[in-house]
Amino acid sequence: MKDDIKQQLTELKAERKAVILAHNYQSAEIQEIADMLGDSLELSRKASAVDAEVIVFCGVAFMAETAAVLNPGKTVLLPRREAGCPMADMITPEDVIGIRKEYPGVPIITYVNSTAAVKAESTVCCTSANVLQVVESFRDADTVYLAPDQNLAKYAARHTRKKVLHWNGYCPIHHNLLAEDVVKVKRAHPEAPFLAHPECRPEVLDLADEIRSTSGMLRFVRESSLNAFIIGTEEGILTPMQRENPHKRFYTPEKRLICQDMKLTTPEDVVRALQTLQPRITVPEETRVKALQAVECMLALG
Ligand code: 13P
Ligand code: SF4
Repeated sequence: MKDDIKQQLTELKAERKAVILAHNYQSAEIQEIADMLGDSLELSRKASAVDAEVIVFCGVAFMAETAAVLNPGKTVLLPRREAGCPMADMITPEDVIGIRKEYPGVPIITYVNSTAAVKAESTVCCTSANVLQVVESFRDADTVYLAPDQNLAKYAARHTRKKVLHWNGYCPIHHNLLAEDVVKVKRAHPEAPFLAHPECRPEVLDLADEIRSTSGMLRFVRESSLNAFIIGTEEGILTPMQRENPHKRFYTPEKRLICQDMKLTTPEDVVRALQTLQPRITVPEETRVKALQAVECMLALG
């Protein structure tokens, strides 16, 4: 990255009292300038504890919205306003109200990959790292509803005695990975365990040696004595994996898993956002307070 951009960012961050948060799927250049890197759960936690006046969220809209929900007094910037999540857009708040009417009394768990307005209508949120814990937290319920990701819900259903109803959303990137793609790469590298994200299809998860969130995968690779791994998630994760484990090898399926929304943000966008304090993400107060309850309820589970 150009030195003048780095210098500009250092000055702007000090001037604005800003912090840069980035998701594990962001480009290598963005990861380089981030103060904090993580998965959705870690970033939610960091956003709630952050000591800054401005949060620059390098990720997609639902993540910046979550930061805005948790930090009403702070300015939250999403350097590229159009960076969205197709899965988050597969469900509306009206849909959640409809689910509540159809299944009265059933806890509605929404994956953090959803809009603040959808979170506001739900009982609690979850991430890929804590979904099983959240499902089990409803000790007295024998049925829960999970939205919008059908694959995450099917994964949870296999690990609980509860009935898990679900919405039919999916992440187009992970859903596009098929069992045959995984079989092929496993055949080529039989020594390497296959690490899959729970947003993958059940047939793909059947082939997994480990099912983990992005940070869970990073932890697994760091702690493992093995030297080679097959990675079944968006390929931005390879940047921190290779940086942390320069002597380990990482293989990916031939079919590339790239989330275009996650790749939109550039360091120049971050500079511009800090100069102009735009695009700013805000959540209407009534929605924010209701969404906050669902997010805090999740964070309280530890
Ligand atoms: P995690 O980083 O929480 O595993 O989420 C993956 C994802 O799809 C974020 O958009
Ligand atoms: Fe959404 Fe999938 Fe992209 Fe994550 S990887 S932001 S779930 S489309």
